[in-house]
Amino acid sequence: MPAEHRLILKHADEPGYTPDIECYLKHGGYEVLKKALAIQPKTLADGKTLSGPEQIREDVKLSGLRGRGGAGFSCGLKWSFVDRKSGKPIYLICNADESEPGTFKDRQIIYKDPHQLIEGMIIACYANDVKLAYIYIRGEFVEGAKILNRALAEARKMNCLGKNILGSGYDLEIWVHRGAGAYICGEETGLIESLEGKRAYPRIKPPYFPAILGLYMCPTIVNNVETLCDIKHIMQMGGSEFAKLGTPNNTGTRIVSVSGHVQKPGYYEIQVGHATIGQLINDPAFGGGLRAGRKLKAIIPGGSSAKVFKAGEKFKLKKKSPDGKDIEQEVDMLDLPYDFDSLMAAGSMSGSGAIIVLDDSTDIVEALANISEFYAHESCGQCTPCREGSLWMSKALHRLTHGEGRKQDADYLIRIADNIPGGRTICAFGEACSWPVQSFVGKFKDEFIAKGAADEEKRGAKVDERKPVTRAVEELV
Ligand SMILES: Cc1cc2nc3c(=O)[nH]c(=O)nc-3n(C[C@H](O)[C@H](O)[C@H](O)COP(=O)(O)O)c2cc1C
Ligand code: SF4
Repeated sequence: MPAEHRLILKHADEPGYTPDIECYLKHGGYEVLKKALAIQPKTLADGKTLSGPEQIREDVKLSGLRGRGGAGFSCGLKWSFVDRKSGKPIYLICNADESEPGTFKDRQIIYKDPHQLIEGMIIACYANDVKLAYIYIRGEFVEGAKILNRALAEARKMNCLGKNILGSGYDLEIWVHRGAGAYICGEETGLIESLEGKRAYPRIKPPYFPAILGLYMCPTIVNNVETLCDIKHIMQMGGSEFAKLGTPNNTGTRIVSVSGHVQKPGYYEIQVGHATIGQLINDPAFGGGLRAGRKLKAIIPGGSSAKVFKAGEKFKLKKKSPDGKDIEQEVDMLDLPYDFDSLMAAGSMSGSGAIIVLDDSTDIVEALANISEFYAHESCGQCTPCREGSLWMSKALHRLTHGEGRKQDADYLIRIADNIPGGRTICAFGEACSWPVQSFVGKFKDEFIAKGAADEEKRGAKVDERKPVTRAVEELV
């Protein structure tokens, strides 16, 4: 039977556990930081000496930790890209924007165990020679910002933060910055612009890779809240022990937000890949199954940008046989292990770790219209394919859900969605707004055509009733 494996959320929901430093210290808080600061330089067999911070960075590489913010990029590798020779200060930013629809995990840490995040951040900063760090928190989390500011003040008072931390000679300051209230503020380069006091327009990569040209054009690390908490646990148990949690290449634990049509929506921390999608939906330890009398229609496995899976969908996945050979196995969508690689092999992603469950009461066209309206609203507007494409898709879906659809809207939607990604946009939002359309329409095309056809029949008239300008623009696409 799969079960939760609470590493990060170990204390969060315990009765009597509070976000203040006394409670954190009673539970062994800041002991791992002491351990990190006390690491002595080590001489390797080849005569090379590794400083304490270098040893932490090596351990993070060894742990196999992949970022929990969305892309699942190796944390150790990201840190290795930091330009340490520029002579400029190195900054670290904790991405606490958490605005991917369906995701509600980072806020649990911030509200219930803020010192865990702060301890993880201080260790990450020490490992990377950072003297100034920021927590960029979603603007709507007013209470979260207050909790973090209170916790930072407590940490300063206990000399866990500030000058000469715990007598180690290491200085660090961390400030909380409240976000500007847009989804794009969570994209790391948009976030950096916003932190600099500007509109959150993402920067083009190259050249603006944060590790080289980030905040104030200085080398910058941007990591998610959960990723930074993992740093504390890697330091505590060692990278190789951390790597034993989860599955190869998908190490550690992950907090999964389960929402939608399940009996027990909530957040569940699992060893990565140790529970399948079906178990996360149906097991009493997790989502607890669908509502009475309902059947599964679809799930969105990694926040609203991830490509949808249709109930009953099958995938061919490569696996290792007991004798070590690569074999191909057919796997039902519900039997996919919830990890980075399996979901990617199945054509979607685990993204921000958020499963949205849709049962057979869902009008799939309405669901996509809802998602697309969000993306059209949130596009920052710098790139034409994203700005116009997200709006056209949303308008077509609005038509389809307001009795003005056409049979050919399904193909029209796919044509637009296919023309946004592929290096035509500055940031990954372009892909993020296309994937739901490509997958919803691709996998439920009949429902889109039926809706358009019904509308046409009701109207007794076709496309030509619409404004000539709209028609002309659509024909160009
Ligand atoms: C449109 C968009 C929105 C994003 N929103 C968030 C967010 O709210 N929180 C987050 O941690 N990462 C978000 N990301 C990913 C960040 O750009 C970045 O990759 C992440 O913070 C890196 O942290 P990690 O390596 O620890 O995962 C977003 C990316 C895109 C393209
Ligand atoms: S892809 Fe969209 S959100 Fe990203 S920079 Fe371009 S217009 Fe803005």
